[in-house]
Amino acid sequence: AGTQFYDWEVRYAYKSPDCYKKLGMTINGESPGPTIYAQQGDTVVVKLTNSMTTENVAVHWHGIRQHETPWYDGTEGVTQCAIMPGDTFNYTFVVDRSGTYLYHAHYGLQITAGLYGFIIVSVPNGFSEPFVYDYDGSIILKDLYHSSTYEQATNLSFKANSWIGEPQSLLINGRGRFNCSASEVNSGVCNATNPECSPYFLTVVPEKTYRLRIGSLTSLSALSFEIEDHNMTVVEADGSFVEPFVTKNLYINSGETYSVLVKADQNSSRNYWITTNVVSREPSTPTGLAIFNYNPNYHYKFPPTEPTTGPLWNDTDSQLDQSQAIKAHHDFVQAPPPISDRVIVLLNTQNLINGYPHWSANNRSLTFDQNPPPDTYDIENYDIYDVSENKNAISSNAIYRIGFNTTVDIILQNANTMKANHSETHPWHMHGHEFWILGYGSGKFDKVHDTKSYNFINPIMRNTVPLYPYGWTALRFRADNPGVWLFHCHIEFHFYMGMGIVFEAGVEKVGTLPTSIMGCGKTKDMIRP
Ligand code: C2O
Ligand code: CU
Repeated sequence: AGTQFYDWEVRYAYKSPDCYKKLGMTINGESPGPTIYAQQGDTVVVKLTNSMTTENVAVHWHGIRQHETPWYDGTEGVTQCAIMPGDTFNYTFVVDRSGTYLYHAHYGLQITAGLYGFIIVSVPNGFSEPFVYDYDGSIILKDLYHSSTYEQATNLSFKANSWIGEPQSLLINGRGRFNCSASEVNSGVCNATNPECSPYFLTVVPEKTYRLRIGSLTSLSALSFEIEDHNMTVVEADGSFVEPFVTKNLYINSGETYSVLVKADQNSSRNYWITTNVVSREPSTPTGLAIFNYNPNYHYKFPPTEPTTGPLWNDTDSQLDQSQAIKAHHDFVQAPPPISDRVIVLLNTQNLINGYPHWSANNRSLTFDQNPPPDTYDIENYDIYDVSENKNAISSNAIYRIGFNTTVDIILQNANTMKANHSETHPWHMHGHEFWILGYGSGKFDKVHDTKSYNFINPIMRNTVPLYPYGWTALRFRADNPGVWLFHCHIEFHFYMGMGIVFEAGVEKVGTLPTSIMGCGKTKDMIRP
């Protein structure tokens, strides 16, 4: 196995991803950042220098398990001290499983600020995947806000009844299009002819099959994704092979990745739209656009049709149908342990703490406190259809202590928010592990009845799973990776507002810590041996 070395400088730069000029965070001047390519078994080394003058940074390798290197998971405040201005930190980890993964900042609202990208891990030599294709392509989806992340963070933390609102644009591979007002054009802040915001195009050769890797690192939005008039066959999800199924439209939540196969089998004398649209929340963001360009047409020849607007935003049933269609490929089924040692039920609610809105699991919002967190909440008596009560919510950063190598079930239970008749989708992401998705359901989880519907035959293993409005999601995992790990909602604003837990398993088995993670800033030289 080889070593893939990346030298990254993180700095601010003015960018116009949707033609509107704003300050963003970049890696070597780019947002999205460079794709990391490696082969299963390789070691990846990222030498990261923080060249921002006023802000710390930490980067998480989303979907990489970090076996024996839990300290390089990149979660500020959990696995490392942040990388301070002027400092350099070397992330060194093995990519032990092929597939499509992501990386992103794990500090403040820095994903929203633009620090994100792909990690693509190819299969080992001699191994063949259970599908074939001619070419590989990748598409990363993002929602874009024009306001600064400092303003957003301040409003979320210190303003009652304030919310960030919907994004201004959807970006496909970092490109979108905002409909600038005349005054924005005149003041020079918005320029529709800026080449930075010309649409992304994917050039295809007629009759060839493309493997498209699609990832989302949205700050808020759940998305639908379509290639006009083309079917997609889903073959991979978060690094696991999927029993193939065909769809016109792919739903994708923040933190999820998919591979789909697309055959360029339509009329090759024209181009087609690639579109992405907001679902799950009532959208006010225009469709994100890119071009599926049939060679040899000019790549910016616009398709003669109107861009597709995707499925209805509130068609939760069809989202749930897609989630349930995602099963492990029949040749790659890994059966889950038949029983679990512990069940943790996490009631998802929105709460006020000291008058400011937060998100909580079992009424504990991840902030600063050391009270032990509960394995459940009085869910039997909790009305998940009523406005969240808020009364007992507290801040907590205590951790769940989980027996090493034990099997744990987590039942995510959704509920109403602080607004009447309103419940939101939350994509939960686990660090350091994949889990089996045992089932989804609507309403309140019933442990006698609903556990009977669990899929023990061919459940998919993933690192991210959606929890739908007023529903429940059940997952199972083995706590077989020594370390301290986050499990949280991947909506960056929700995580920022406390929607997550920290768990620990086998910390006594964590080896000798590298000195580079001991402390940060100038005091590190004093505490390092
Ligand atoms: Cu991709 Cu903790 O997240
Ligand atoms: Cu959430």
